[in-house]
Amino acid sequence: RECFCSFTTTGDILTQELLCIFGTGDLGRSLGQRLLQTGYRVVYGSRRPHSCGPLPERAQVMSHAAAAQSANLVFICIHRENYDFLETLAPELKGKVLVDVSNNVEKNLYPEANAEYLQRLIPGAHVVKAFNTLSAWALQNGPSDANRQVYLCGNNAEAKQAVSVVATKLGFTVLDRGSVSAAKELEDFPLQLFPEWRLPLRLAVGLTAFFFFYLLIRDIISVYIKEKKDISFRIMVSLANKVFPIVSLIMLSLCYLPGVIAAFLQLYRGTKYKRFPDWLDRWMLCRKQLGLLALGFAFLHVLYTLIIPIRYYVRFRLSAITVSENRTPEFDTTMAWRTDSYYSVGILGFGLYLLLGITSLPSVSNALSWREFSFIQSKLGHVTLFFCTFHTYLYGWDKFLRASSYKWYTPPGYMLCLVLPSVVLVLKLLLLLPCVDRSLTRIRQGWERTNPDDDSRKSLLT
Ligand SMILES: Cc1cc2nc3c(=O)[nH]c(=O)nc-3n(C[C@H](O)[C@H](O)[C@H](O)COP(=O)(O)OP(=O)(O)OC[C@H]3O[C@@H](n4cnc5c(N)ncnc54)[C@H](O)[C@@H]3O)c2cc1C
Ligand SMILES: NC(=O)c1ccc[n+]([C@@H]2O[C@H](COP(=O)([O-])OP(=O)(O)OC[C@H]3O[C@@H](n4cnc5c(N)ncnc54)[C@H](OP(=O)(O)O)[C@@H]3O)[C@@H](O)[C@H]2O)c1
Ligand code: HEM
Repeated sequence: RECFCSFTTTGDILTQELLCIFGTGDLGRSLGQRLLQTGYRVVYGSRRPHSCGPLPERAQVMSHAAAAQSANLVFICIHRENYDFLETLAPELKGKVLVDVSNNVEKNLYPEANAEYLQRLIPGAHVVKAFNTLSAWALQNGPSDANRQVYLCGNNAEAKQAVSVVATKLGFTVLDRGSVSAAKELEDFPLQLFPEWRLPLRLAVGLTAFFFFYLLIRDIISVYIKEKKDISFRIMVSLANKVFPIVSLIMLSLCYLPGVIAAFLQLYRGTKYKRFPDWLDRWMLCRKQLGLLALGFAFLHVLYTLIIPIRYYVRFRLSAITVSENRTPEFDTTMAWRTDSYYSVGILGFGLYLLLGITSLPSVSNALSWREFSFIQSKLGHVTLFFCTFHTYLYGWDKFLRASSYKWYTPPGYMLCLVLPSVVLVLKLLLLLPCVDRSLTRIRQGWERTNPDDDSRKSLLT
């Protein structure tokens, strides 16, 4: 068995292992500096050993061939496009561990992964893919919270172990992703840009744009056309304070709709052991991002609401009313009930919304048991949806019945946004009916309703 130990003993003296780095560029320099700080000795292999850029103190520089011969483990800090020359070093690199740190500028640029290509160039070496998910900057600064992990893969267990030892000594946590065939996946990691946020972000932008133009035409352009009155200043606060809560409420309901659909699907199929369709799977996987974006929009709504009393338009209207009536207006108890109720329910809804956001922080969710997390996210989540929906119904009050609410035969934005949360809440209520809940609970505990058709088909086949 080969051994690529990190320390070798010479008599009583513990000699630090010498590691080799090919390439004196950004990553090579940062890696070398960290290795030296950790106690390793470092030798660089360079095309120009006498004229390469500034390198960490105490590091040696040699030709590639000489450097390769002096160490067992070689980091290839060179772009894949320049790998060809390594083929000529095959004899010097035979039996060595080659760490491929390379990335590509886009996905599927080459038919095979860079690490597989390197292995093909030097079949006698043991290629390990590692460190490619860290930036030169992160390597130089050492592991921070965000960059604590080093993913690696390779075909030779001893070689992987040798690289793991180095990564662990540098302070990283190693995650073994298996054989070299996983290299392509690792090389795609740094090319991903918030993959799980993409769908929720697109949805948020789409809904915002739709409601912005809908309300712009309905509430501002219509007034200009009908009454020749310019109220375009309302775009900045009034319109924004309609669009944001509307989008927030719709996105909040979109967090809870897939759970309800999943439950009905399980009831219909009579089993929990059948896979959900792909679209439902993907939808369920991005609920956290949907929820956090929805919380962001709700937060904006609350901030916009706070500035209502200091708006010039509001202060002007108040003083105009006082001057024109020249007397204290009569107190309307119904109006007081209505406004206090929807403020209060809105505040309760927002409080719970914040709780959902806080529990989704990894530091908090890690401190909760699965049951506690599920209680807050699922049970209190539905209560949040209920409060926010109720807040909007109370805001509408009797306006649902007034014909004047339906300008140009179109409903106001808050009525449109109530459709989805109302549907989700009604469906959830149906699921809570004791007879339905009992069946669902049994199915989720593993019980299966066998389909007589399937059974007869199965028996025919056997
Ligand atoms: C601010 C905010 C933050 C959020 N953060 C997160 C977050 O960090 N993580 C997250 O996941 N979501 C998060 N969400 C989204 C949402 O709160 C959760 O996904 C919530 O758990 C959804 O509840 P649910 O009851 O609809 O779905 P779930 O609790 O996932 O249940 C849905 C379906 O899963 C299946 N199921 C549930 N239990 C079982 C079982 N025991 N056996 C078999 N099948 C079962 C059933 O089919 C069920 O219908 C967040 C939302 C908001 C607003
Ligand atoms: N920079 C990062 O943050 C980062 C992060 C993760 C992964 N990576 C990967 O690390 C590798 C190096 O990246 P880098 O940013 O350090 O690149 P870089 O700054 O351009 O350095 C590359 C080095 O490769 C050597 N080189 C250039 N052309 C060569 C050729 N034709 N033949 C042989 N050697 C040649 C040079 O060293 P000599 O002049 O000494 O020969 C050069 O300094 C790449 O594969 C990259 O994908 C980089
Ligand atoms: C601190 C908590 C909250 C307060 C004080 C509050 C207050 C208000 C006020 C004053 C309005 C009327 C705005 C206007 O006149 O244009 C309103 C409307 C509305 N609120 Fe809230 N709200 C709160 C939280 C929420 C939350 C968490 C949601 C859920 C997403 C929400 C959803 C809505 C909706 C949909 C409207 C109707 C928007 C419209 O079309 O005019 N609110 N809220």
